[in-house]
Amino acid sequence: MGGFQVLWCLQLMLSNWTMAATISNSFFYQKYLHTNSNQDSQYNRVNLHVESPSSVFALRGENATLPCRFWYEPELNSPRKVRIKWSWVSVAGGPQTDVLVAVGSRRRTFGEFRGRVQLRQNFPEDAALVMTQLQLNNTGRYVCEVVDGLEDKRTTVDLELRGVVFPYQHPLGRYYLTFLEAKQACEQQDATVATFPQLYQAWEEGLNWCNAGWLADGTVQYPITQPRATCGGPGLAPGIRSYGKRLSQPHRYDAFCFSSLLRGKVYYFQPSGKMNLTEARQACEDDEAQIAKVGQLYAAWKLTGLDHCNAGWLADGSVRYPITRPRRNCSSSEPGVRSFGFPPFQDKHGVYCYKAQE
Ligand SMILES: *[C@@H]1O[C@H](CO)[C@@H](O)[C@H](O)[C@H]1NC(C)=O
Ligand SMILES: *[C@@H]1O[C@H](CO)[C@@H](O)[C@H](O)[C@H]1NC(C)=O
Ligand SMILES: *[C@@H]1O[C@H](CO)[C@@H](O)[C@H](O)[C@H]1NC(C)=O
Ligand SMILES: *[C@@H]1O[C@H](CO)[C@@H](O)[C@H](O)[C@H]1NC(C)=O
Repeated sequence: MGGFQVLWCLQLMLSNWTMAATISNSFFYQKYLHTNSNQDSQYNRVNLHVESPSSVFALRGENATLPCRFWYEPELNSPRKVRIKWSWVSVAGGPQTDVLVAVGSRRRTFGEFRGRVQLRQNFPEDAALVMTQLQLNNTGRYVCEVVDGLEDKRTTVDLELRGVVFPYQHPLGRYYLTFLEAKQACEQQDATVATFPQLYQAWEEGLNWCNAGWLADGTVQYPITQPRATCGGPGLAPGIRSYGKRLSQPHRYDAFCFSSLLRGKVYYFQPSGKMNLTEARQACEDDEAQIAKVGQLYAAWKLTGLDHCNAGWLADGSVRYPITRPRRNCSSSEPGVRSFGFPPFQDKHGVYCYKAQE
């Protein structure tokens, strides 16, 4: 009877052992090889993993770090040589552009990222990308790819800038801009055409605008927080209305531009009385500054709280003023940048200047 029990136990142990060996599969042999020999051979069934956060927010002109790290499962005893590649897809879509390739201690950077990006490498598995001097058009999706010969794993990080979305109309009026002209108009105002996520965020923060404008992906949309009869109808729910993609024909709309913080300051200036546009430009230059662009005024309003009750000239010939604390004699009940449109150039106003920080 005692002999039977021992045999039964042994059988149980054996079957447990077989089960363990089957379930853990390569993992089991992997451990076994590692503890019993030093070879890091092709028998090694290890899994490569790559991980990053899904998005990173940064400010224009600052440095941004896009985290990315890789590891093996199970852990390796000795590091393997990997190739790390970062590439970028613009918010507007389009092809994947090379940013940086690193193999061992060799680095190569590409195109407009040349000299502005580096691999952080705070620890051996650190593949984070550090980018200096962020520009408005650096937003988009970054792909971190790690290749170790047998395996190729990737992850993506969306780089977003903190900033402000503003609607922009051509001086000659509503719905005057083709997509290309919208891009140029935003750039001239120190901005880029806004992306849908940027417009969405602006809408969540209360942007209510009844005119349709271009977005970076070639769609035409407008954000409504307070539906009314003249704008989508009072029965409609708030939201972002889309006309869809309009690139195929030369349609004309307004633009939604996006601008971000800038080094330097925007200020109201009126050295001696009000000025026509020519005098206003000159006044800023005499003050070792430049007449401010619309994107700069919006960025200063939104990101540094610029609040001034006086209307002033801007570079595009429009007259506006920024209000963060609405008060009785100064704009209506809501914060915002008020616009007086594009008055005749001989009209007299103050001016908003922008002085860059060295
Ligand atoms: C950005 O990175 C550059 C180069 O690594 C460094 O010289 C500079 O101080 C950094 N700037 C900021 C604001 O951290
Ligand atoms: C991005 O902006 C910079 C500076 O504003 C400019 O030099 C560069 O050509 C732009 N790149 C693209 C792809 O538009
Ligand atoms: C508002 O403007 C009116 C006339 O322009 C003036 O009499 C009044 O004092 C102003 N109030 C404030 C709070 O500035
Ligand atoms: C602005 O005023 C100056 C005189 O101070 C005059 O010479 C110039 O023509 C004016 N410009 C415009 C656009 O009215």
